Amino acid sequence: MGASEVRTFLASARAEVDEALERFLPAPPDCPPLIGEAMRYSLFAGGKRLRPILTLAAADAVGRTVGSPSGAVRGLALPSACAVEMIHTYSLVHDDLPAMDNDTLRRGRPTLHVVYGDGIAVLAGDALQAEAFALLAREPAADDPVVCARKLRALGAIAAAAGAAGMVGGQTLDLQAAGQAPNHPAVLDADGLRGMHARKTGALIGAAAVSGAIMAGGLAAQVEAVGRYAADLGLAFQIVDDILDVEGDAAQLGKTAGKDAAGGKPTYPALFGLEGSRHMAAQCIQRARQALADARLSEGWLPAVAEWVVGRSN
Ligand code: IPE
Ligand code: IPE
Ligand code: MG
Ligand code: MG
Ligand code: MG
Repeated sequence: MGASEVRTFLASARAEVDEALERFLPAPPDCPPLIGEAMRYSLFAGGKRLRPILTLAAADAVGRTVGSPSGAVRGLALPSACAVEMIHTYSLVHDDLPAMDNDTLRRGRPTLHVVYGDGIAVLAGDALQAEAFALLAREPAADDPVVCARKLRALGAIAAAAGAAGMVGGQTLDLQAAGQAPNHPAVLDADGLRGMHARKTGALIGAAAVSGAIMAGGLAAQVEAVGRYAADLGLAFQIVDDILDVEGDAAQLGKTAGKDAAGGKPTYPALFGLEGSRHMAAQCIQRARQALADARLSEGWLPAVAEWVVGRSN
């Protein structure tokens, strides 16, 4: 896949997701204007949209193996793509709160709580999560039992990834390791750090990809391979996030740099150094690509998404 084709795919997927998110989100008079505005403030602030892109790319990769038209599988996967982005955005809003990472810049804008206050930020996060699951239950609207069964599996995978065994569990370990959970400190060794990253970032990235494969009607072996690809991709993604926190600057990242060391956060650079971390991220990407090749899922966009994750600068 050439670089310009990849750019075209990424741009079209982002546009499709942005349009659908606006359509799927509640607006006044269905909700009070302030909560509608607060949700949109963070959701349309210019995130990379990695997770929904992964959902669409995974659906496309599976669709190619059964000759499904790309538009049809993308349509089936679009609600999952948007739901994961809503949950991810909620996780960022809460992650930035004074009670957690206390960040004032996100996606190039002042954080939600800085503009709207802590209470509204908590509520906007809560609402984004609930709306995500309402969306998963509602769309794609279908009576077909096959589509309904896929929807239920996708919903289950996303819920598990967002919950105590997934993202929330990882964020809990993060707070414990940074000494932010009174009377419950934790010290993480290399395995512990990998486990924390797998939960706080890998789980939702995994569910993004897996839900796309499920909605496209992937065989069990295909869904499993997409899951292995995304597990390594997710770890690489958080390792690169840790590296960028050391090497990047706020203008480039759209968020404050240097926060991890200042906050005593457990990170790959802290444990393995920058070179070691870069090497480990590259190894993850190699394994991710191999998982695709083993399942004959290398056609399409998934390998390019993996390259993007390690090569990115924000
Ligand atoms: C940031 O995620 C938080 C992590 C899980 C590392 P992204 O880097 O995907 O943030 P956006 O969506 O582009 O803002
Ligand atoms: C957050 O990890 C992961 C989430 C679940 C939100 P970080 O705390 O490293 O994310 P950034 O660097 O603030 O985006
Ligand atoms: Mg954090
Ligand atoms: Mg943070
Ligand atoms: Mg970070």
